[in-house]
Amino acid sequence: MPIYKTITIDQYTKALIWKIEEPIEALEESIELSDYCAKRYQNMSSEIHRKGFMSVRQLLKLLGYTDFDLTYDAKGKPHLNDGTEISISHSFQFSAVIVSNRKVGIDIEKQRDKIKRIAPKFTPIEEYQSLGETDLIRKLTMVWGAKEALYKLYGKKGLRFLEDIFVRDFDFQNFTTTAEVYQNNLTTTYRLNFLEFESYTCVYALAL
Ligand SMILES: CC(C)(COP(=O)(O)OP(=O)(O)OC[C@H]1O[C@@H](n2cnc3c(N)ncnc32)[C@H](O)[C@@H]1OP(=O)(O)O)[C@@H](O)C(=O)NCCC(=O)NCCS
Repeated sequence: MPIYKTITIDQYTKALIWKIEEPIEALEESIELSDYCAKRYQNMSSEIHRKGFMSVRQLLKLLGYTDFDLTYDAKGKPHLNDGTEISISHSFQFSAVIVSNRKVGIDIEKQRDKIKRIAPKFTPIEEYQSLGETDLIRKLTMVWGAKEALYKLYGKKGLRFLEDIFVRDFDFQNFTTTAEVYQNNLTTTYRLNFLEFESYTCVYALAL
């Protein structure tokens, strides 16, 4: 079942998630790539990466776009030629695309133990001390995904995960929260939404 989830957020905002279960040949079927993307694709040595890349083109197709509608800026941020905002993520068996008329970012992460090791780099770890092992990994993955999604929304270097992005605390009953981003003496608030499935976490960030 290739298309795994469709999330309609509002009239202009939609997220699609693909579960990658098919061989690469099936994902390549009926997909044409721009010269830029064909070159990138040829240079990808990992099958997981190639499948992630092609499944994103399948999601674009479902949204009515082709690879020729997509360009990348110098920082690697994708843009659609019609001005619609887009964000892309892929992680092992899943990929996701979100499109909107608002600024958006999306991230999919596999929930993994190693998140604990890098946690001090992106969040004040003492905030999570009351959580058991499983919930700790879940929450850290959510906060990490949130910051990655916001990083993509901004699309440029210089956004520091620890100092510039503050994710408001949330409980597991509430799969939504807000985040404040501090940039150029300006504080901007974003809505965050979380999904969990099959030991993966997906986060999308939207301008309010
Ligand atoms: C760019 C970055 C966000 C990608 O995230 P990732 O989890 O590695 O990979 P994902 O699959 O989720 O996302 C990859 C997609 O992000 C998009 N992307 C890449 N650079 C981007 C940028 N500067 N802005 C917005 N989107 C970007 C691309 O669409 C890419 O997929 P594609 O090239 O196949 O289309 C990440 O590598 C990064 O640089 N994060 C910031 C790291 C950081 O500051 N860490 C410090 C705190 S510890």
